[in-house]
Amino acid sequence: MNQTDYVRLSLELHLFFDRIMKEHSFFLETAFMEKDKDLKRIAADFQKSFSNILSRIVELANNNINQNFLNAGEMITNNTLEAEMKTSNLSGIEIDSNITRKQIELRSGIITVNERLINNISNINRRTLPLIQNLISLKTNILNSVLSCKMYTTNYPLLITHIINEAKMYYNLLNKIEKKEPFNRKYIYEQELFWNNIMKEHAEFIRGLLDPTEKELITQANKYANKAIA
Ligand SMILES: [Fe+2]
Repeated sequence: MNQTDYVRLSLELHLFFDRIMKEHSFFLETAFMEKDKDLKRIAADFQKSFSNILSRIVELANNNINQNFLNAGEMITNNTLEAEMKTSNLSGIEIDSNITRKQIELRSGIITVNERLINNISNINRRTLPLIQNLISLKTNILNSVLSCKMYTTNYPLLITHIINEAKMYYNLLNKIEKKEPFNRKYIYEQELFWNNIMKEHAEFIRGLLDPTEKELITQANKYANKAIA
């Protein structure tokens, strides 16, 4: 892996996954019962840590990412800003929308690799890896407590498993990039299979969260779930 690919893949990976990690932390924070308020605080700290990383990455990415990546729309959607403002408003939990505004304004450019940029990226990568590990441990502890009936959260056990698996994927990809290991064909194929299953689960979570009267949406979510595994 050359230095340009190292910078590009690191930036793209963080832009995609940091937001997911902070959203997972938000899901955890809102789902605890009052007796687990210490865990609420821990989840909130994770949300802040991943927001800080994302904010720094967005600064570094400006004029340093491919237009193709921006066109793919995998970082944010047209609804992200409005959705997070509403979510913050309804939950009373602060969500830094400035990061999203900066992401909307991100400009593409040709990556100009220099020692400073590589050092900055490498520092972020090495700082993020243990943070992801810690978040995986927290999620795993929560899942074990839920499955052994020691804790109740409003998240499905499958949702907790799902967000553990996404965090593990982030960790594995980042670890590979940091070691500058190339991605072979088999690995890319496995990623495809992984995401098909993840998309199926997203549709199933939506189905399960709908009001029973929303029959059309339930049917639609079911269709998506079946399509993802077809
Ligand atoms: Fe997901």
